[in-house]
Amino acid sequence: MHYPWWYVPFLNAPMLIAVIAVLHVLVSHYAVGGGLFLAVETSFAYRTKNKSYLDYLRQHAWFFILITVVYGAITGVGIWWTIGLASPLATETLIHAFVFGWAMEYVFFVLEIVSAFIFYYYWGRLDAKTHTAIGWIYAGAAWISLVLITGITAFMLHPGSWLESKNFWAGFFNPQFVPQVFSRTGGSFLLASLYVYLHAAFKVKDSAMRDLIAARSARPALLGAILVVLGGVGWFVFLPASAKAALAAASTLNLMMALIFALTVAVFALLYFGPYRNPGWLTPGFAIVLFVLGLAAFSAGEFVREAVRKPFIVYNVVLGNQVLAEEVPVLRANGYLESGSWMRAHVAARFPQAIENGKINEARLLELPKENQIELGEMLFQYSCNNCHAPKNGFSAASHLMRGWTTEMIRTCSREPEKLHFFMPPWAGTPEESELLTQYLISIAPAHPAGMYFGDER
Ligand code: HEC
Repeated sequence: MHYPWWYVPFLNAPMLIAVIAVLHVLVSHYAVGGGLFLAVETSFAYRTKNKSYLDYLRQHAWFFILITVVYGAITGVGIWWTIGLASPLATETLIHAFVFGWAMEYVFFVLEIVSAFIFYYYWGRLDAKTHTAIGWIYAGAAWISLVLITGITAFMLHPGSWLESKNFWAGFFNPQFVPQVFSRTGGSFLLASLYVYLHAAFKVKDSAMRDLIAARSARPALLGAILVVLGGVGWFVFLPASAKAALAAASTLNLMMALIFALTVAVFALLYFGPYRNPGWLTPGFAIVLFVLGLAAFSAGEFVREAVRKPFIVYNVVLGNQVLAEEVPVLRANGYLESGSWMRAHVAARFPQAIENGKINEARLLELPKENQIELGEMLFQYSCNNCHAPKNGFSAASHLMRGWTTEMIRTCSREPEKLHFFMPPWAGTPEESELLTQYLISIAPAHPAGMYFGDER
């Protein structure tokens, strides 16, 4: 909260991260699995002297570079931009803990881009051995960058013994690391086959060639699906207590889990009975259905993985409202408005009458006219609640959640949100500040709907 707040209407800023992250992972996993596909299959095509398969692979390599380098890089930079604005404190924490991890990641990223371009643009000008070696360099670099990023992102869900030691490797090899490397590696195999099927179904007219492609990519896809499930089980087993509880408590997440399960079974069955047993099934329609189901399963999985991180963004370190967990007692003692440079400056400029000896006198804030109290309460809402709730309309809007609540219920929620629901962060301010928030919440909470059984207290 030493950063200015970034207000995103309707969606709330963190949902933007979720949207862009999902758009990115759908391609970044292909960037890994597709690289492995090209390396394995070009060696196979050279070995079997299959000229027409090599021609197809060259076409696929162009499609692959276009999608992964252009789209992948745009969405990848988009993630940096969004997390920096929407979740600055968590981003800062990750940079402090892992700056050399990011540096390593960039080294492998450059290696990926360079080898991908050599692989494609020097096609036909390198001997078979060198060409496949370049393909393998790409595949290796891409997988290592997956491993590096996974160590860092999995850390947010469960930092493990890093909390005590603050040691880089303790954070990197966190309890979620191995399960997530499993499922992401599996996801890469699976998604790559789905992209290959989609591309080949439209581009390859010769049915024998299409059958070959269908059959060759079926095993990696089935293996990938199995790895995803194994990794998913590990993910669940090593969830921290709060995330497990959030998963159990939220009905939306339960529905999502059921959906992921159903979609995974459907994709597995289509792969098994389609390309694995009957390669001839690979038509454009079939490839589209498989692709859409696979992407839906993947997106739902990523969504759940993000959504269970409550009330923490980084478990036991950064809370969902951009406050360091260890800072909560300090904020409760000194005041939230007083402790943040942006809010202190704003209050001093807007309400100089509340300043005493250079500090905000909180009691005076409660002497301000009602509309000014509501104005400050709205500001506190943006900082403390808008990470998860839109105010009046939009994602999980607070006003709708409080429909028909009495003033006392609203006051309790504002003073001790963590007691109402364990997945909300504790109030990180003084009782006076929570009263300002209460005034704002009352001003936006709709009353009881009219009807003979509904008394209306407000
Ligand atoms: C880390 C995310 C997070 C933060 C921050 C957060 N909440 Fe919530 N809150 C939730 C979730 C999740 C729910 C459950 C939503 C649902 O049932 O749709 C919830 C539920 C609520 C409800 C409905 C409670 C009920 O019993 O039906 C209210 C009211 C509410 N929050 C107000 C607030 C206020 C006020 C703040 C700021 C002080 C806040 N929340 C901060 C995540 C958060």
